[in-house]
Amino acid sequence: MRVAILASGSGSNAAALMIHFSNTEGIDVVLVGSNRSSAGVLEKANQAGVASLHFSREELVSGALLMKLKTLKVDWVLLAGFLLKIPKEFCRAFENKILNIHPSLLPKFGGEGMYGMNVHRAVFEAEEKESGMTIHYVNERYDEGAIVFQGRIDVSEFTSAEEIASEVLKLEHEYYPRVAREIILDSQRNIK
Ligand code: GRF
Repeated sequence: MRVAILASGSGSNAAALMIHFSNTEGIDVVLVGSNRSSAGVLEKANQAGVASLHFSREELVSGALLMKLKTLKVDWVLLAGFLLKIPKEFCRAFENKILNIHPSLLPKFGGEGMYGMNVHRAVFEAEEKESGMTIHYVNERYDEGAIVFQGRIDVSEFTSAEEIASEVLKLEHEYYPRVAREIILDSQRNIK
């Protein structure tokens, strides 16, 4: 299965995915794409020897990125801290073939504007007893696709939003590669 990763930020999850899949028979990361030319994720792709691409919002919206992924025969798209909304046509072209990771226990603390530290600050301010991460399919609405996995941690003793962020990120690195691998390889088995 041929995988593209889309990310907007530093790309620590993208790096965890690339490392994991470099040792996974049956999964090849063929492209790392970012809408931000300065995103750390592009450098991480270069270091891992994976093709990287900077694209504009316009290229995402117009379908040019979709064409590019189709040309590369991409089977699965993994979002890893990707901040732009995925257009309808793109969702349809990759129906049930796009996964995202979100740093909260959805449906709590999801939706527009809920990304990065905004999420962890909201969790901390709400005095939540637990937080975690959610891996879900992507549909046309932010953070509302079917949930495939949630990892939880007790945050009741945590003293800052930063502490929550750092522990949730560890969970993300631990589970996103493994869960994505199982889902992608399963989809291949179902085709055969
Ligand atoms: C992660 O917390 C992810 O859940 C969210 O954005 C963050 C990306 O971090 N969607 P990184 O760029 O992978 O380090």
